[in-house]
Amino acid sequence: MPKDDTAKQPEHVAIIMDGNGRWARRRGLPRIAGHKRGVETVRKIVDACPELGIKYLTLFAFSTENWKRSSEEIDGLMQLFRLYMTREAEKLKREDVRVRFLGRREGLAPDIVDMMENLEAETADRTRFGLNVALNHGGRDEISRAMQRIARKVSDGALQPDAITEEVINAHLDSAGLPDPCLIVRTSGEFRISNFLLWQAACAES
Ligand code: FPP
Repeated sequence: MPKDDTAKQPEHVAIIMDGNGRWARRRGLPRIAGHKRGVETVRKIVDACPELGIKYLTLFAFSTENWKRSSEEIDGLMQLFRLYMTREAEKLKREDVRVRFLGRREGLAPDIVDMMENLEAETADRTRFGLNVALNHGGRDEISRAMQRIARKVSDGALQPDAITEEVINAHLDSAGLPDPCLIVRTSGEFRISNFLLWQAACAES
């Protein structure tokens, strides 16, 4: 019987995409050149994951802490996100990929939020593979916003405090409905979690 390589693949892999700046610096290039190269790698990984039997991939594309970077780098990254969504939308739909964005929408440019929402809506019924892009994501920020949603329900009388379980918290996170990642990869080779998927990372290997 042929060996089934997909049987041992993790269901959900999450990636902290860093080391781009260092990659560029070693080559005497601007930091944004490293991020551009990162987008090329994203394309390859998105193609490879479903072939390997991985069902979900979550990419840490921009953190709530990344706003401290230079405006030049932030603008360059935002332009790369626009380009990625414009250029990849048709391919993602054709390849049966559902795209979701995790993170705080406020603070992002309105045209980017529109593109994100369109891509989510246009791929909402796709089932082969789930690509989640954490954009303006911070684990603490996500948990705080989930707590606000839950507190509102408690104050409206729709939820009893004793009924707040782990499942209820899961259901109020941006990642509601997704399985937790079982593997978190940091591309630079470091092991810091950097405020990424703090709740969901409880049982992940790195
Ligand atoms: C951190 O590495 C990386 C980022 C802040 C940006 C990552 C984003 C991309 C690669 C764009 C891909 C996006 C998608 C999903 C379309 P760093 O710059 O801090 O590297 P360093 O640690 O070497 O300085």
